[in-house]
Amino acid sequence: MKYSKIIGTGSYLPAKVLTNYDLEKIVDTSHDWIVSRSGIVERHIAADNEMASDLALQASRRAIEAAGIGADEIDLVIVATTSPDKMFPSTACILQDKLGIRNRGAAFDIQAVCGGFVYALNTADLYIRGGQARTALVVGAEVLSRMLDWTDRTTCVLFGDGAGAVILQASETPGIIAGKLHADGRHQNMLTADGNIRHGEIQGDPFIKMDGQAVFKFAVKVLSEVVEEVLAENNLQGSDISWLVPHQANIRIMEATAKKLGLSMDNVVVTVAHHGNTSSASIPLALDNAVRDGRIKPGQNILLEAVGGGFTWGAVLVRW
Ligand code: UT7
Repeated sequence: MKYSKIIGTGSYLPAKVLTNYDLEKIVDTSHDWIVSRSGIVERHIAADNEMASDLALQASRRAIEAAGIGADEIDLVIVATTSPDKMFPSTACILQDKLGIRNRGAAFDIQAVCGGFVYALNTADLYIRGGQARTALVVGAEVLSRMLDWTDRTTCVLFGDGAGAVILQASETPGIIAGKLHADGRHQNMLTADGNIRHGEIQGDPFIKMDGQAVFKFAVKVLSEVVEEVLAENNLQGSDISWLVPHQANIRIMEATAKKLGLSMDNVVVTVAHHGNTSSASIPLALDNAVRDGRIKPGQNILLEAVGGGFTWGAVLVRW
């Protein structure tokens, strides 16, 4: 088989909703500030007993059902997450077990922060095209609310929890047309959660810290570059793209990328208002929304792009 193709999508959001008005009671912020600077209105927060693998499980079951396959057909599980259940084993191994997959295909996590889903999808595509797997489950799952300092208004208003999943299968027709990943570790301190466990104690700051303005500028620059790079390499233009499905961090970043591509915001899938920034889960959540409500249709070109801590960034071009 020459290609891999997405044959099913699924997503899951925890029941608890935290609105901007709720946040006004916790930190010195306002609904108007959050909406005008980020586009976020509300976000979902996982229950104390919900782990990333629990969210991933719900999203995966929906993707498996949509694909019409049996779980045991999945011979590759990749979970993109920055908020794994444990230091080890990987959330992917835990998810593989929860799904009852017993075929001993590979399972591993990818840590590329908000760039995680495009990293995971590109990796799964290469596994399938290289013949090492036939049916992959690719998930983005996050409970980042646990890594937030709820007294830090510069971060706690931005993030939310959720999971999204796709089933990618070997196919004679495209499928994933192209993927491009980048990283530059020199920018590691722009967005970081430093804490690590040493001798049974947390060393360093365990909360998310971000230089928002620097991240904003960097994100606009590298996302514009990578979407143009992918299109140019495939002899396409912005007008050939039916839907841009960007990482959902900030509506203003999405507007800047759409403008660079010459795309109207009517061609951009936007869920940030109701999900907040769910890191590696944001793209598969948005994708599932647009697939299930019928916006994304067979034959369309879909462009996924993301940037996150590391710094990592990338884009994946899909023929639906
Ligand atoms: O997913 C990974 C990638 N992450 C991102 O892409 C996030 C990128 N960055 C951003 O989205 C934006 O930079 C933010 C939404 C984080 C911030 O927007 P901004 O327009 O860059 O605001 P700012 O940081 O320049 O802050 C403007 C003002 C400051 O006050 P002064 O210094 O002008 O008096 C902040 O102290 O807003 C203040 N501020 C707030 N005010 C109310 C910062 N956070 C808040 C808040 N509520 N939550």
